Amino acid sequence: MQKAKITVVGAGLMGHGIAQVFALAGHDVTLTDSFAGTLATAKDRILANLKDLGDDQSAVDRVTLQGDMALALREADYVVEAVLEDLPLKQALFAEIERYVRPDTILASNTSVIPITAIMQGLTRRERALGTHWWNPPFLVPLVEVIQTKWTSAAAIDFTMKLHAAAGKKPAHVKKDVPGFIGNRLQHALWREAISLVEHGICDAETVDSVIKAAFGRRLAVLGPLENADMVGTDLTLAIHQNVLGDIESRPGPSPYLEKLVADGKLGFKSGEGFRRWSPEEQAGLRAKVLAHLKTARANDESA
Ligand SMILES: NC(=O)c1ccc[n+]([C@@H]2O[C@H](COP(=O)([O-])OP(=O)(O)OC[C@H]3O[C@@H](n4cnc5c(N)ncnc54)[C@H](O)[C@@H]3O)[C@@H](O)[C@H]2O)c1
Repeated sequence: MQKAKITVVGAGLMGHGIAQVFALAGHDVTLTDSFAGTLATAKDRILANLKDLGDDQSAVDRVTLQGDMALALREADYVVEAVLEDLPLKQALFAEIERYVRPDTILASNTSVIPITAIMQGLTRRERALGTHWWNPPFLVPLVEVIQTKWTSAAAIDFTMKLHAAAGKKPAHVKKDVPGFIGNRLQHALWREAISLVEHGICDAETVDSVIKAAFGRRLAVLGPLENADMVGTDLTLAIHQNVLGDIESRPGPSPYLEKLVADGKLGFKSGEGFRRWSPEEQAGLRAKVLAHLKTARANDESA
């Protein structure tokens, strides 16, 4: 992959991590943010991550901070937006971005759930616009979903897939701009059933999580559901589905159990109670466990 000029708009949690990945891959990265205080700390945050991961610390020298949007954008080959999750903000921002970039600059949004079509519909050149959905933290989770709208050109998708693969990510081409893309659709199909099991008194929240972690969760990192279905046989999968699908949660909206938790102020870690109670020590312990697991997985990927 040739060295590219990449501009990341938004230097928050996701933006600084995305900038770090592209800089480590050898690209020249310009990082911009409308809040000068956030921009000012971005290089320190990137350097701290690089140190923590044992990555080449000189990568931070390929990151340029630029508070002026026009200057940050004018030479970019590729722009990725990681500002707040707000549709009017993103629409206005892309209209502004399009004024400053070249006609062939590829434009990506890192929205979590807003349809890419809605964000990009006002652009003059919609064929160069797409979604790239990174997962947090960007430098530890390999997946980047590359979302195509009905306007996106094959060339823009091809460039973006190659750019991310060459940077060590695992890009997944999402061929239609559907809500939740691929990863969050799958994840929340599981969460819906998990909540339903608790709602209907089949088990408590801790048990749901243990069943997943102690059984198919152990295999999931190396065995996807469709590989698994082929492994056991599509005929067996069909027989199981004939028996069980009619009983699995299929309501179209959120669970009333979840709605009540929110109405009661049981917001999870931030209030100390959600599906379960969480002391500050338990919260810190779980966060540390997830981070350690992701680091080990990345180290295993690198040595494989
Ligand atoms: N946090 C996650 O786990 C996660 C995962 C995947 C995708 N995302 C998505 O990535 C995007 C960014 O999320 P985040 O968690 O990094 O948010 P964040 O709040 O940490 O960072 C957003 C940054 O955007 C800046 N900003 C706001 N308006 C701007 C503008 N007009 N121009 C330039 N900068 C502006 C803010 O100053 C802030 O620094 C969101 O769309 C979010 O949904 C987040």
